[in-house]
Amino acid sequence: MEINLIEELPFDHWNPAVDAAVQSSVTTALERGRVLYLPRLGFQVRPEEQRFLAADWSDGKSKNIYLRGAERRLRGAHGNPDDLRGLREMLERFGQQARQLVEALFPHYRAHLEFGNTSFRPCEIEGRSSSYRKDDTRLHADAFPSNPTGGARLLRVFCNVNPFGKPRVWRVGEPFPDMAAKFLPKVRRQWPGEAALLNALGITKRRRSEYDHLMNELHDRVKADLDYQRDVPQQRVEFPPGATWIVFSDQVLHAVLSGALMLEQTWMLPVDGLLDRDTAPLKVLERLTGRALV
Ligand SMILES: [Fe+2]
Repeated sequence: MEINLIEELPFDHWNPAVDAAVQSSVTTALERGRVLYLPRLGFQVRPEEQRFLAADWSDGKSKNIYLRGAERRLRGAHGNPDDLRGLREMLERFGQQARQLVEALFPHYRAHLEFGNTSFRPCEIEGRSSSYRKDDTRLHADAFPSNPTGGARLLRVFCNVNPFGKPRVWRVGEPFPDMAAKFLPKVRRQWPGEAALLNALGITKRRRSEYDHLMNELHDRVKADLDYQRDVPQQRVEFPPGATWIVFSDQVLHAVLSGALMLEQTWMLPVDGLLDRDTAPLKVLERLTGRALV
């Protein structure tokens, strides 16, 4: 079945003037699980940075080159100090422009946003083999086993900077509440003491709430179900070079089919920062389970 989750926006500047009515409508669209697509907004890679648009800057250990949250140290890259400084500068500039864009479009979030990783994904997705849990060519909503959010949202801005004309190809799937209603009856409940044990062993960075446990279970069950992957209402989308798109990646079911050389900025946003809290996966799962999950 066909769906259309794409909401196209005309902006061609990282700090656009956006009137209040548009701010409110784009915020609502984002919170309802739509993909905000800005086909005319590209990131200007400077002439001296063109050399960074290649897979060989990766250190081979991490699939991404990134600046971590507030720390901002470059990770996942190898090169001489000049190269690394140049790469870091490019990522930092992208992160700052993405921040301007998000603050212009969603002023309601400004006071609540926690600036997260800025990452550069140089490697080709297609043909990369991995376990099904790590296989992002299967539809999933983002959930990270070691990094519980306690319900906070994952807001992400992506920009395709491929210099060879190669699009980033995604599939996006049915609304989060529909997926959750199908899979929640199949998930395993948290064992008594499980969250404390994972935390004590250092497997999680902080205590895993029941919400985070369920999000991880949903992530894995959805990826494991090949019939669901094939039959669920979904849409194929191609994001060409020079295009930007924005999603709540903990909510929008997405799969990355192919593409290389993309920039991405993440924020955490507490549920209380949303215009409509009822759209949060936390609230959806609490309605379906009938209990508090954090
Ligand atoms: Fe993902």
